[in-house]
Amino acid sequence: MKLWGGRFTKPTNELVDEYTSSIRFDQKLAKYDIKGSLAHVAMLKKCGIIPAQEADQIAEGLKKVLSKIEAGEAELSEADEDIHMNVERLLIEEIGQVGGKLHTGRSRNDQVALDMRLYAREAISELKSLLKTVQQALIGQAKANIDVIMPGYTHLQRAQPVLFAHHMMAYVFMFQRDVERLEDSLKRVNKSPLGAGALAGTTFPIDRSFVAEQLDFDGICENSLDAVSDRDFVVEFLSNGSLIGTHLSRLCEELVQWSSAEFNFVELDDSYTTGSSMMPQKKNPDVAELVRGKTGRLYGNLIGMLTTLKGLPLAYNKDMQEDKEGMFDSHETLKGALQLFAGMIGSMEINKESMYNAVTNDYSNATDLADYLVNKGLTFRESHAVVGQVVLNCIQAGTYLLDLSLKEFKQYSEVIEADIYEALKPETVVNARSAAGGTAKQSVLEQIAKAEQLLESS
Ligand code: ARG
Repeated sequence: MKLWGGRFTKPTNELVDEYTSSIRFDQKLAKYDIKGSLAHVAMLKKCGIIPAQEADQIAEGLKKVLSKIEAGEAELSEADEDIHMNVERLLIEEIGQVGGKLHTGRSRNDQVALDMRLYAREAISELKSLLKTVQQALIGQAKANIDVIMPGYTHLQRAQPVLFAHHMMAYVFMFQRDVERLEDSLKRVNKSPLGAGALAGTTFPIDRSFVAEQLDFDGICENSLDAVSDRDFVVEFLSNGSLIGTHLSRLCEELVQWSSAEFNFVELDDSYTTGSSMMPQKKNPDVAELVRGKTGRLYGNLIGMLTTLKGLPLAYNKDMQEDKEGMFDSHETLKGALQLFAGMIGSMEINKESMYNAVTNDYSNATDLADYLVNKGLTFRESHAVVGQVVLNCIQAGTYLLDLSLKEFKQYSEVIEADIYEALKPETVVNARSAAGGTAKQSVLEQIAKAEQLLESS
């Protein structure tokens, strides 16, 4: 007989059990469910809603049920639909009919909302610390290669030289915003829905704030209808996760490019790459590719959840059971990627000669020639036109700006002097960009210091 079987005259069709049950995936919530139940029963005891001795019996029973589930000794059944009813049945098996008092003043609707909030809270703190390991690995590479110069790109065309460390730090700040978004979302996640009942609240003299405190929540959801039907916090988690995925994926794309023979900027460590079953020479950046690829499912989970919610009338609807698999999947997907990422970044070798060649055998110092002319009195437009001509002639002659003699320079503009050679060197070009946030070594060192401070305080 089902826990809710009273008003039914027929058993559920087996396919219906299979279709509607969630135990296959929501067993992941067991520890949160029981944690919530322990707080609930402590409150029932404190408020005198059930006798103290029975409450203690229930609490003991719940702990036993949890250890059995965790040891794989509990039989979870599809006929009991979900983790909530399975736990209740197991509790009654453990301590007898008194276990039936646990659900006093509570519904699965506020219970499941609670479990998901507890799950989200833990997932958020886990992702935050994993993101930190990635940030540390990036900072490590930045510091170890502080003088390495590489081309900076726009449109994937070489644009202006930058420090490799500057490029690494760009990702550190992206991930910092991801950490901050996760932290900010806690303000909304960390509210207790328990006590909202099925939708309208409860007739029992419960103490919602007591439960909230027991579970380290910052407060309670103020409206019972909202408490049981809100999954904004799931959407926020999936959205924040999607942005983390976006940032990881962009970095992955760069690693894939940089480790190709065409770029040859980095070499990923053997332990973070894989081979080809057919082509013996191959070393493939599979991890980076897969992290990039899995971003698709992070977006899919977000769009799926938004779509599930969009037409739902208040309050709880069974549709909302669809919040779980996407949430678990995004969490696991991100965890898997982030766990690998710090090691992959930390162990990668930087090919500074290749990077430097790409800077010197190129025209990415053209802006600096233009700036030089402006400093000698030309308007930027005049100077842009002059330098465009210089570059065009050099391309046709197969030379670079630094190959020109002073005499040749002077044919373009009389104001050019011998100091032009110093001005166009990659090191000068980089260090000239010394305003805050720029690519000069001093500025990048300041970025590193700032990022380390942020990491320490979070
Ligand atoms: N398994 C359900 C879910 O995940 C729990 C809540 C069910 N409530 C209900 N009234 N059917 O959403």
